[in-house]
Amino acid sequence: MLTARTVPDLRRLVRAWRRAGSSIGVVPTMGALHAGHLSLAAASRKRADRTIVTLFVNPKQFNDPADLDRYPRTEESDRETLAPYGIDLLFAPPPEVMYPAGFATNISVSGVTEGLCGADRPGHFDGVATVVSKLLIQTGADFAFFGEKDYQQLAAIRRMARDLDLPVGIVGCPTVRDPDGLALSSRNALLSPEERACAPALHRALVMAAGRLRNGEDTACLAAAAAEIAAAGFSAVDYVELRDAEDLAPMQRLDRPARLLAAARLGSARLIDNIAVEPAGCD
Ligand code: PAF
Repeated sequence: MLTARTVPDLRRLVRAWRRAGSSIGVVPTMGALHAGHLSLAAASRKRADRTIVTLFVNPKQFNDPADLDRYPRTEESDRETLAPYGIDLLFAPPPEVMYPAGFATNISVSGVTEGLCGADRPGHFDGVATVVSKLLIQTGADFAFFGEKDYQQLAAIRRMARDLDLPVGIVGCPTVRDPDGLALSSRNALLSPEERACAPALHRALVMAAGRLRNGEDTACLAAAAAEIAAAGFSAVDYVELRDAEDLAPMQRLDRPARLLAAARLGSARLIDNIAVEPAGCD
């Protein structure tokens, strides 16, 4: 696996691959890689001839400086994790390559970024859209792979790529879970053993609420899901909401394909999760 830290080095390699007629997939990450990231890399390897994994802890998407400081930085172990997976290139630029002095551009996606995590993390999705648009332009990839675990992020990136006519296919990949249902996340590393034991309650509550919605209850039943999450030991529940699967518009009843999304705080971590919910007879 090669490493590039500057845009000219990255582009030199990409040009050589293009000359050889290869298609290119990119998996943007902030490192602290786990099986969820590896599933994205595997999807890219299947779809494209060459795979680039990017590793950049993007300061612009952290609205809380303490959260940015706490974020795990594990390039050496990430490199070891990726070694057996046939990745062609690790693009790991330093902050001054991504945001040189004088950097003054912001990409802002409205609509799908409103509410949910957007309500609680001002500027977060602007930071994501800005860095992802740069990574897509820098790599010139044909396909870019993102996890459905960050469903609102995926919706924002799809919208941005469509609106800016970026010549890239945005591919959403299923959430990877531990056997007890906890969605894999770099933030799980922040959980103490006791918190880790409570954490699967988030997914359990979503699955139970999905059953109630499918049985015809309206979204009033989501208050019970929030109460279950709190009772399991989470210190705060930011939201449990039913949204349209495509445009993330709020829904009162399960009358079309939807996504049930939640965010809650456990110790120093804020965990998010979501599942697909379809009205009965929709499969
Ligand atoms: O999902 C992430 O890890 C990040 O938000 C991303 C897409 C790599 C942008 O920094």
